[in-house]
Amino acid sequence: MAEVDLIVRGAGELLTCAGPESGLSGAAVSSVDCIRDGAIAVKDGRIVAVGTTRKIESAHTANEIIDAEGALVTPAFVDPHSHLLYGGTRHHEHEAKITGRSSGSGLQSGINYTVQRTREASDETLEAQALADLDVMLSHGTTTLEAKTGYGLDQDTEMRLLRLTHGLDHTVDIVTTFLGAHVLPSEYEGRREAYLNLVIGLLPQAAKLAEYCDVCCDPVGFTYDECLRVGKAAKALGMQIRVHADQTGDANGAKLAADLSAHSADHLDYTTDEGFAAMAKAGTVGILFPAVTLHMCEMTPKPQGGGLIPAEKPFMPQVARRAIDSGCTIALSTDYNPGSSPTPSMQMVMQLAARLFRLSYAEIWNMCTINAAASLGRARDRGSLAPGKRADIIVWKVPEHGLVINRFGVNLVDKVIASGKTVVTDGQVLHPATTSRGVGFRHAV
Ligand code: NIG
Ligand code: FE
Repeated sequence: MAEVDLIVRGAGELLTCAGPESGLSGAAVSSVDCIRDGAIAVKDGRIVAVGTTRKIESAHTANEIIDAEGALVTPAFVDPHSHLLYGGTRHHEHEAKITGRSSGSGLQSGINYTVQRTREASDETLEAQALADLDVMLSHGTTTLEAKTGYGLDQDTEMRLLRLTHGLDHTVDIVTTFLGAHVLPSEYEGRREAYLNLVIGLLPQAAKLAEYCDVCCDPVGFTYDECLRVGKAAKALGMQIRVHADQTGDANGAKLAADLSAHSADHLDYTTDEGFAAMAKAGTVGILFPAVTLHMCEMTPKPQGGGLIPAEKPFMPQVARRAIDSGCTIALSTDYNPGSSPTPSMQMVMQLAARLFRLSYAEIWNMCTINAAASLGRARDRGSLAPGKRADIIVWKVPEHGLVINRFGVNLVDKVIASGKTVVTDGQVLHPATTSRGVGFRHAV
């Protein structure tokens, strides 16, 4: 009998989400590995064995035993794209748009509004809000989160955001990304070259704190050539690349991501078939955001009456199926931010992916676990329940994986186990990182 630290037993369904380091694509993404009456053995924060309860208990003993009593057990979520640190909120802008009081001044000016509020926010405020958000994410099942800068857009604030992100002390494991090339800050209007030089000049410092460099290759951001310059300079410093690609128009962002061998190309609403083919060939993972599709594309009453007009852009849910059919590996994420996606919940993302993108439940589970980990170069280490991987596990309040997607609007997590330690029970974080009253509270007038 091998002695381990923890056995999780009695899972009605144990969803392993097993897959290769590069993630699942093609036909493989549409089936998900599931063990009935499953169990997991954990030692030193790592999974040592996965199988039926009978098999695991016949070969292991443990000090701590968690009996799932027929509940669903899955890998914890990997959320591979967020703008975690920001100042202010944009709910006023949102309401004005959906009620037709304003047609919105566009994504670039929305982002620049958040940039102003972020520059004004103190370190203490930014950190407290981020920790409060991380508590919420953890209670909803996320244990790994990519977090990017991009609301500073000047030397001081971008470096401040990087230091704060890098320094966050939380159970959720953070992967840090530098997004100096998000949009042109207002004060650089007409001086694109000068701003790009500033971003490239920051890269040596950024490379010390961030694993990834993200560039926004989009009509609201920068061109293919501008992003290529930034991306090449980042790669020369050893950074890996992520790309905000083709969100508001085709800017050749998918091709850029492929040409830079980027780990991910994200959004992809206007990506062409050639763009998807280039990504598939390069092994760049596509990341999609059903919450952005929902939030940005509300139909707005026409100010003069008589019907509805799209608030930001046409509703384009078909991109998900096109991306999968092109052979790309696809992941899902929140894109958590105050403008285009103010949800921190991967459960919400799953629920919207089914309803808006018409993805199967198996596809959605794989895309929020193993494929999301692959997009962060971490699929060898996490993203499925398999021997050798981090013991990042969710015990759910429902018995079957389909119910997490079919139900919506409530937190269905019972327990979260991070690196072998129980950190959430009954959907509540055991040791919250902050007593802050929540998002936006400190910004209230
Ligand atoms: O959705 N090009 C960048 N787009 C951001 C927008 C964030 C915001 O609205 O503040 C994104 O990722
Ligand atoms: Fe984003």
